[in-house]
Amino acid sequence: MKIVRAKDYQDMSRKAANIISAQVILKPECILGLATGSTPMGAYQQLIKWYEKGDVDFSQVSTFNLDEYVGLSDDDPQSYHYFMRKNFFDHVNIDLAKTHVPDGATKDPESFCKNYDRMIAEAGYPDLQLLGIGNNGHIGFNEPDDHFSAGTHCVDLTESTIQANSRLFEKEEDVPRQAYTMGVQTIMYAHMILVAANGEKKAQAVRDMCFGPVTPSCPASILQLHTNCVVVADEAALSLCPAE
Ligand code: PGA
Repeated sequence: MKIVRAKDYQDMSRKAANIISAQVILKPECILGLATGSTPMGAYQQLIKWYEKGDVDFSQVSTFNLDEYVGLSDDDPQSYHYFMRKNFFDHVNIDLAKTHVPDGATKDPESFCKNYDRMIAEAGYPDLQLLGIGNNGHIGFNEPDDHFSAGTHCVDLTESTIQANSRLFEKEEDVPRQAYTMGVQTIMYAHMILVAANGEKKAQAVRDMCFGPVTPSCPASILQLHTNCVVVADEAALSLCPAE
């Protein structure tokens, strides 16, 4: 794992965006695995700025998002489909037909999940997978457990995730209790993984991810076994990690 130290959120966002844009410039038809949440928003804003300046072109890029809440349709403002359009897709020249977000409204979850994995495999797996990390060490919505998950599947969200995500909903009761997520194995198949983390609330999870034992009780810890994983984190998120 390579750790890139950033000063603050803005610096983290710029450094993460730099790595993503380098990937797109090196391989214009690349596959990006994308994430939602507060962490990547600044990186998306930076990428939009560079797109507007003509520095990066997304016309040939395909994307697969990590996760989606169960029961939310594409146009629900709380859905991750909506998040991706509002925060990124609608502002760059990406072909929406090449973007994929799990279907929260599927009536057939089992075949949907299998098919999502099949599409990712047929595409050759993401050249770069962007990840945030949960306060509890989750990646995607792979919550702490007694085993690492394999492919895309439905999960019950933990209380701590429901609480953490309730800031984006009117009331905590409105947060969906389940989500579809790429599994840990699917995530590990990405050719490169970029984890972004900021803020003191992530400090313990970042320490466990980078320096703790590899254990499904901190799903992100498995990233220690990935051969090309970069963690871009700000000072607050790195505050519990050994200095250099
Ligand atoms: P956040 O979520 O970016 O909103 O902090 C990250 C995550 O839960 O993976």
